[in-house]
Amino acid sequence: MMKRIGLLTSGGDAPGMNTAIRAIVRTAVHRKMTITGFLKGFRGLINDDATTMTSRTVGGIINRGGTILKSARCPEFKTRQGQRRALETLKKHAIDGLIIIGGDGSLAGAHVLSQRYNVPTIGIPASIDNDLYGTDFTLGFDTAVNTALNAIDKLRDTATSHDRLFLVQVMGRTSGYIAEYVGFACGAEEILVPEEKTDLRKVRRVLAHAKDRGKSSCIVIIAEGDDAGNAFRISQKLALEEIYEVRIAVLGHVQRGGSPTAADRILAGRLGYEAVMALRARKTDVMVGITAGQLRFTTLLKAVRKSKSFDRKMLKIAHILAT
Ligand code: ADP
Ligand code: F6P
Repeated sequence: MMKRIGLLTSGGDAPGMNTAIRAIVRTAVHRKMTITGFLKGFRGLINDDATTMTSRTVGGIINRGGTILKSARCPEFKTRQGQRRALETLKKHAIDGLIIIGGDGSLAGAHVLSQRYNVPTIGIPASIDNDLYGTDFTLGFDTAVNTALNAIDKLRDTATSHDRLFLVQVMGRTSGYIAEYVGFACGAEEILVPEEKTDLRKVRRVLAHAKDRGKSSCIVIIAEGDDAGNAFRISQKLALEEIYEVRIAVLGHVQRGGSPTAADRILAGRLGYEAVMALRARKTDVMVGITAGQLRFTTLLKAVRKSKSFDRKMLKIAHILAT
């Protein structure tokens, strides 16, 4: 019988984690199960840092960014010794199944627990990077895109007033999803992503051409993991000053916070509910996701190993629409 569920949030936090926690706890309570939260990701399992959760302890968090369970990166959990300590904690609390909310690293950890130690485990994809296979969107991505977009709309105001070009660096060390969506939505003249080799000579040509066509200001979006370097490095290499006056904005961790958007809250509620129901149905070693509006289960191994396809056509359209 699935009576006691464990829950933790791990890795980089993402808006919507709290909304998912609320959904999991309330679904579990509705199904007469108890929920133990472990604090600070896998560290909470290793150090037996646990808290009992009830429908009331998750009140007032549906709209709050961050995670009330806290999050952390925990290198010790990658070792057998760390994993055995985690297992002891799970046994001590008589946990029948575990739900892990996090990015690809965290879900790799979830897979280890399930495969190596037979702990029934379900993963919920949460990362502003949207870099997990098996779900159209990860929790936090939509909020991060909207946060960045809001900031860039403001940068556009001042760029326009001063006839300037802004190089805006958004998050995504290995993933260009935020850059692509934000760039598309803000009408950027150029979008640089890790998935595509960046040809800076071409970028320079596009920007010079924009000037020739009467564009008095421009926005260039750069994913932090672009192969041509970060915004400062790219600015140096492009030597744009004879075309536009240049300013740089690095948006950074502001993209990780804030109240989740409606889309993220709805995704969090659906995935949280489905994760509990999946554990009850004895599923394990899978991630719950939503593709084309439908619930989809993907093995944790596939979810973390397979790379999500990147929509290059969106970049092409964004270019055309920015001419
Ligand atoms: P994210 O989940 O946001 O991708 P990380 O990649 O930092 O974040 O991973 C979060 C944590 O997941 C790590 O600190 C570690 O505790 C655990 N983890 C990551 N990869 C593995 C792995 N291969 N085996 C076991 N645990 C892992
Ligand atoms: O994976 C989410 C993310 O925000 C990336 O976009 C970014 O590169 C990284 O985490 C930043 O990590 P940290 O919080 O350790 O600075």
